[in-house]
Amino acid sequence: MSPSLESLFDFTRFQSISADANYTPQVAACAEWLKSRFLAMGLEAKAYPTAGHPVVLARNVPRADRRTVLIYGHYDVQPADPLNEWTTPPFEPRVENGMIYARGIADNKGQIMAHILGVEKALAEKGDLPVNVIFLVEGEEEIGSGHLEAFLKEHREALNPHVIVISDTSMVAPGVPSLDYGLRGVLAMEVRLHGAATDLHSGSYGGIAPNPAMLLARLLATLHDEQFRVAVPGFYDAVIPVQDWERKEWAQLPMSGEEDYKNEIRSPSLFGEAGYTPLERLWARPTAEVNGIGGGYQGLGSKTVIPREAFAKLTFRLVPNQTPEEIEEKVIAHLKRHCPPEVRLEISPGHGGAPFLCDPKGANSLAAGRAAMRTWGQDLALIRGGGSIPILQTFQRILGVDILLIGLAWPGCCAHAPNENFPVESFETGIRFNQALLEELAAG
Ligand code: BES
Ligand code: MN
Repeated sequence: MSPSLESLFDFTRFQSISADANYTPQVAACAEWLKSRFLAMGLEAKAYPTAGHPVVLARNVPRADRRTVLIYGHYDVQPADPLNEWTTPPFEPRVENGMIYARGIADNKGQIMAHILGVEKALAEKGDLPVNVIFLVEGEEEIGSGHLEAFLKEHREALNPHVIVISDTSMVAPGVPSLDYGLRGVLAMEVRLHGAATDLHSGSYGGIAPNPAMLLARLLATLHDEQFRVAVPGFYDAVIPVQDWERKEWAQLPMSGEEDYKNEIRSPSLFGEAGYTPLERLWARPTAEVNGIGGGYQGLGSKTVIPREAFAKLTFRLVPNQTPEEIEEKVIAHLKRHCPPEVRLEISPGHGGAPFLCDPKGANSLAAGRAAMRTWGQDLALIRGGGSIPILQTFQRILGVDILLIGLAWPGCCAHAPNENFPVESFETGIRFNQALLEELAAG
């Protein structure tokens, strides 16, 4: 195995699951490993403790006559469940048919490692870099980056980049370099309905006891209308419509139709808001989703019981100019109004991240386009993405510079899902792209 793949595999073996406190030691160990990896390639590096998981910062010695490029990524990963749907264990990376399989390999370890190794290669080949480079690799992206804003405020002067580069998105099609000029935001919350004080025999009490599971189904059904539009009053008030130039640009993309997406997700049908194409629904329209639902008996066979409570984990994907605060208020008011009176409603607010949109035609994007041309022989496709990187708008607000989102993962990478994958080719191309990109960005 090549030394670069070996480094990536070592990185990927850490079970750096940020959401689950049982894994906190592994998250910390991953941060330490990363810091050592940076030190070994001759950068200054430190793992900063935060109120949550550590932030790893690494840089070469800055020079005033060079531009500063901040490369952001995350070393935390999503939980690997459901484990039995993985072909091989999620934290034992392996290559099959040119694809690497492991939890976090696409999101985001393979992508950030390509940048790290690009810098290492440039240092080895040329002894120096064309820019001041800062790596900021955090451990809480998958849980909303709750402590990164405070860190950025504290270190703003030391960071002070000219441009931010992030590879934590997907190409629009395999091998088609893509610039994401917009991402959706996200708002999470948990809803719990409480009925009787204890679980009850459904024969002794069925017909008189409120059933929170059943009433939860009703409540959740009020979130959408018959057209699968979100039925929360005012939900769409701030939504910016898709621009004409975007419609034209998107129509030419290699991956845009219903059939493409049915194949990608291997589902007989698609779903969503009436009146919009799949790309519009993914990139420019907000959603309300149930991510998990529970209550009552979950084991084998049947059990005649009325559960005392039921819960649902919800997220809302947001688009410009919706804000998590505004939507949270509207959703809570809606849930309160529609909650059946027979049960008590409990809402636990979760993380939130604002949507992101930028001008994809500035000087830094053009430089990135030249680097793409040198690396892939084609310019960047201009796309948006459906996922969220919660810290983006905070970067814009605190650091105030362009953000270039250039993804190296492929569609169908199974991020957050079993058998997550990342192509060896993309990893190797990413290493070369990083070198070209830093050279192009050096010029301004
Ligand atoms: N890499 C993704 C963001 C992403 C996914 C961008 C797909 C474009 C397309 C990131 O790591 C992620 O998964 N973010 C979470 C954030 C949330 C947990 C706060 C997301 O989008 O669910
Ligand atoms: Mn992710």
